[in-house]
Amino acid sequence: MQSPTGPSRQPDASRAQAQYRGRAARYDVELAPFEPLRREALDLLDLRPGDTVLDVGCGTGLSFDGLKGKVGARGHIVGIDPSPEMLAQARVRIALHHWSGITLVPATAAAAPLHGRADAAIFHFTHDVLRDPAALDHVFAHLKPGAQVAATGLQWAPPWLPLTNAFVLGAALYSVTSLDGLARPWDLLAQRLTDVRLHSRPWAGLYVLGGRVALSSGA
Ligand SMILES: C[S@@+](CC[C@H](N)C(=O)[O-])C[C@H]1O[C@@H](n2cnc3c(N)ncnc32)[C@H](O)[C@@H]1O
Repeated sequence: MQSPTGPSRQPDASRAQAQYRGRAARYDVELAPFEPLRREALDLLDLRPGDTVLDVGCGTGLSFDGLKGKVGARGHIVGIDPSPEMLAQARVRIALHHWSGITLVPATAAAAPLHGRADAAIFHFTHDVLRDPAALDHVFAHLKPGAQVAATGLQWAPPWLPLTNAFVLGAALYSVTSLDGLARPWDLLAQRLTDVRLHSRPWAGLYVLGGRVALSSGA
């Protein structure tokens, strides 16, 4: 049951839209301190020119530059996000860079109309999506066998690091609608992957994870 005032146990897409409505214009500045984490996530994706990548919860498109550098002019980025305001910023970014080959899908990850299967997916600071099994099932149904996946986000620090946990709590209340699973935010994702590489930094309240979709259901 969702609460009108605080985080719900389950992710709540309409509350997420309200969170980002007022935040979109200043979002890029707020995320600046975390850009090294984005670069780490992008480095985990060994993409080739012409590849297609799903940027799940793409927001204002801060990953597009790095992804474009990997998939090139022939490649394709599919940015999925339910926030009209965040996608408006993404459209400005695309226009400023004169990028082609980027499709913006204004929808939640669970309901996004997707076609075909992509070579990779990135989930950068998308805790709500990572706590929604239906969203993960839907995205994974549109990834090729062997597709690469990278994810980043907040995680609880050990209890003896209260300042880090205060940062995680503040950032989570500001950015996500469910605090569920912040001890191991990657677990629903990791169980769908093989070759998992987890770089968990609980002292910093942050993690980066890479992995692959299994080549076959038995792999
Ligand atoms: C912290 S921002 C991250 C944006 C972007 N990934 C980045 O690298 O900066 C979280 C984004 O997830 C989006 N979001 C929230 N719930 C979602 C859902 N159910 N499906 C897809 N995106 C969602 C929000 O609208 C917001 O743009």
